[in-house]
Order: sequence, then C-alpha cells, then structure tokens
Amino acid sequence: MSPMNTTRAYGWAARAFHWTVAVLILAALGLGLYADNLPRGDESALQAIFAAFSIHKTAGVAVLIIASARILWTLSQIRPRPLHPERRLETLLAETVHWALWIGMIIMPLSGWLLHSAAPGGFSRILWPFGQRLPLVPEDAALAEGFARFHEAGWWVLAALIALHVAGALKHVLIDRDHTLARMAGNPDRLPDPPEHHMSPGLQHLLAACAAVAIWGGVAALTGQGEAETRPEPAATAAQPAAASGWAVQQGTLDIQVKQGGNDVAGQFGQWQAAIDYAPETQTGRVEVTIDIASLTLGSVTGTATGPDFLNAGAHPTASFKAEILPPATDGQPHLARGTLTIAGKSIQADLPFDLVLEGETAKAKGKMQVDRRDFGIGAGYADESTVGFAVAISFDLTATLQK
Ligand code: HEM
Ligand code: HEM
Repeated sequence: MSPMNTTRAYGWAARAFHWTVAVLILAALGLGLYADNLPRGDESALQAIFAAFSIHKTAGVAVLIIASARILWTLSQIRPRPLHPERRLETLLAETVHWALWIGMIIMPLSGWLLHSAAPGGFSRILWPFGQRLPLVPEDAALAEGFARFHEAGWWVLAALIALHVAGALKHVLIDRDHTLARMAGNPDRLPDPPEHHMSPGLQHLLAACAAVAIWGGVAALTGQGEAETRPEPAATAAQPAAASGWAVQQGTLDIQVKQGGNDVAGQFGQWQAAIDYAPETQTGRVEVTIDIASLTLGSVTGTATGPDFLNAGAHPTASFKAEILPPATDGQPHLARGTLTIAGKSIQADLPFDLVLEGETAKAKGKMQVDRRDFGIGAGYADESTVGFAVAISFDLTATLQK
C-alpha cells in the first residue's frame, strides 16, 4: 500500500495518522474525565489525581504534535473523491464535522497546555524532558481560569463531533453499505474508483469551514463571556460610578496566620478587592471581597501554600467572602460581617467581627476571624497538626472613603 492518498482511498500515512490521533484523543478524553472524578482526600488520593492528570496531559500534548504533523501531511495530499457528491446536505454535514474535528484536535490540547502554562504554583507535569510551560504565557490565575472554562466546555463539543463522525461512518457501513470506512480502514486495491463529478466543491468547503469555525468560535465566545460575568468589578476603580453608600478601599492589608511545625507563620495577600456598601445611619450594609490566591506570600512556603496540596490556585484562583454587615449588638461592640466564605471551591458560613471608626467620609475598619482548613479540604494530605495546624487566622485592616 502506498503512503500517498489516491482518488480511491487514503494511503497508509493518512490512515496511520487518523487512527493514532483518534486513539490518543479518546485516551485524553477518558483520562481527563477519570482524573477529574477521582475521589479527593488524603495524600495518596492526591497522588493518584496527579498521576492521572500527568498521563492526560502527556497524551494531549502527543495529540497536538501528531495532529500538527498530520495537517501538514494532509495539505500535501489529494483527497479521495466523495462517494455520493450528489447528496449535498450529507456531504456538507460530513465536511463540517471533519473541519470541526481538525480545529478540535488542535484547539483542545492547546487550551489544555495554555491552562497548564498560565496556572500559578504547582501542577502535575507533562511526562517528558522538555519544558513544561509554553513561552509568552504569563502565570495569571484569571487567565488560567479562562482557559480552563474553554477546556471544560470544549471537550463536550469534541465528544459530540466524534459521536456524529462515528455515527456517519456506521451509517455508511450499515445503511449505505458503501466503501467509506474501507477507504480509511480496508484494502485500497479492492476499492472501485468513485465517479468523476463536475460540481465545484469550493463553495461546499467554504461553507463547511465557516460552520466549523463558528462552532469553536461559539465555545470561545460563551466561555469568554462567563469570565466577564464572574469577574467582580474592582471597587476602587475611579471610572466606576459608585452607589450613594459605596465605599472605596484606599489602602489595606489582608493577612493570614497559621502554625507550621508548631511555629507561627504569617502571610499576606497582595491582590484583593472589596466592594463595600455601608449606610452609617443604619450601621448596615454589604461587602464582597475577592482574593487572588496566587498573590499570597507566606515565607518560604508560598509555593506549597498556593500549590495543589493546599489552596490550589491553579484550580481555584480566587477566594471570596460575601457578607451582610450587621450593626453592633450594643454601642462600642464590633460590627459583624455575616456571610459565605469560599476558599478552594468550598463554602462555609462565617462571621467576621470588625471594629469600625468613622471620621467624616473616611472609614477605618479592622477585624479578625479564625477558620479551620479542614472545612475547605485544604491540606487534606496533612491529616494531623504536626506539620500544619488546622486553625488559620484571617485578619484585615483597611481605610475606605465614601464615593460620591
Ligand atoms: C476519535 C477521533 C477521530 C477524529 C479526530 C477523526 C477525524 C477525522 C478527520 C479529520 C477525517 C478527514 C480526513 C481527511 O480528509 O484527510 C476523518 C475521516 C474519516 N474517519 Fe475519522 N476521526 C476520528 C475517529 C474515527 C472513528 C472512530 C471512525 C470509525 C468508526 C472514523 C472513521 C473515519 C472515516 C471512515 C473517514 C473517511 C471519511 C471520508 O472518506 O470522507 N473516524 N476522520
Ligand atoms: C485532545 C486533547 C485533550 C482533551 C480531549 C482533553 C480533555 C479534557 C477533559 C475531558 C477534562 C476534564 C474536564 C472536566 O471534567 O470538566 C480535562 C481536564 C484538564 N485538562 Fe485536558 N484535554 C486534552 C489535552 C490537555 C493538555 C495537552 C493539557 C495540558 C498540557 C490538559 C490539561 C488539563 C487540565 C489541567 C485539566 C483540569 C482542568 C480543571 O478542571 O481545572 N489537557 N481535559
């Protein structure tokens, strides 16, 4: 059998590419879902998740490389003539699915690798001796989250395309009883030469290509929109019109304190935003704080703290606290922010007492609360307190001014 395609059938090179990429894509899909659904828990569970993701990523990168070579090879080849050019709609559908599969076999592993490259902190490695991160991709939690959304929606689309493609192949075998599958899997010498047809396939190709681009463009647009919706607006942006009772943070610190090996270790988040509504008359309001996990510095263990064993900034780039501000029980007592604290994707109800001093249009607030890392599944592999304590103190101190 020749490596080259003929008008009758695919050559062995195209076949080898087709079936290798098909097996690797199915493996990557299966491994991604398997890894994502493994039970979380202790250290050995975490290691199993890491190993599965490493194999997933390695299979995915292999898809990217082999599919790129396959595209170059295909560009140098003629294509076997369509067997039923007169069935225009069917041919258009098959072509659209082929185009969308071409895009998918590049864009899916690429989005995975971009996600892997942008994720701050630790990650499970691609099993090869070359570099891990793609060049020019900044380590940025929000960016990684955007790529993750695309990757997590994209696999559904890719799986649906494969299902359509396989259904088409089966239809040819079972209903049409023609040679379509044999051209990709059977002996080419025994295949008849399809009839010459005189319709220009140009428009058909163009339509199919546009439809395929629209499918993946739709995924990108939908997952990109999610980003715009879920990202909180920064409270302190000058251009943003503030509500009458809105307060903008001028300066502040957000600290945590934990015990490591029995010693206190203090850290600070460099990036966080707070949207504050507060009415001095009623002493009530609302606050929404969003914290960039990757911006934490915690002495020499910063990387470990933001890595997958603990806060896992790659999978959960932000933490948040959304709370109602309640007035002091009696004068001179602290206010209370009562609401939902979400860290590492897990939420608990939390009370944060804080002292507030108002001086005209400036407010100074500071408060502290204690949480248990086990409530968030953080450091699940460190089941006792010998290495890292369970209690984590979270404290803040800020100055805000009333927005006009
Ligand atoms: C799972 C991943 C798969 C991907 C990404 C994929 C992708 C593709 C692409 C892009 C083509 C067009 C090739 C070209 O024009 O050079 C093609 C052709 C073909 N594929 Fe697949 N395929 C996959 C799985 C399968 C499976 C499981 C079957 C069989 C059940 C199959 C059967 C075929 C056949 C018969 C053709 C030739 C169609 C024709 O002659 O028009 N494919 N595939
Ligand atoms: C054909 C290639 C690929 C396919 C079909 C694929 C498919 C998947 C699937 C199905 C999941 C589980 C998603 C979920 O349950 O929501 C997943 C997750 C993931 N994949 Fe891939 N993947 C591919 C390539 C890659 C590559 C090359 C990398 C990195 C180098 C990668 C990195 C990841 C990561 C980090 C996750 C976890 C995402 C998260 O939930 O935060 N993938 N992938």
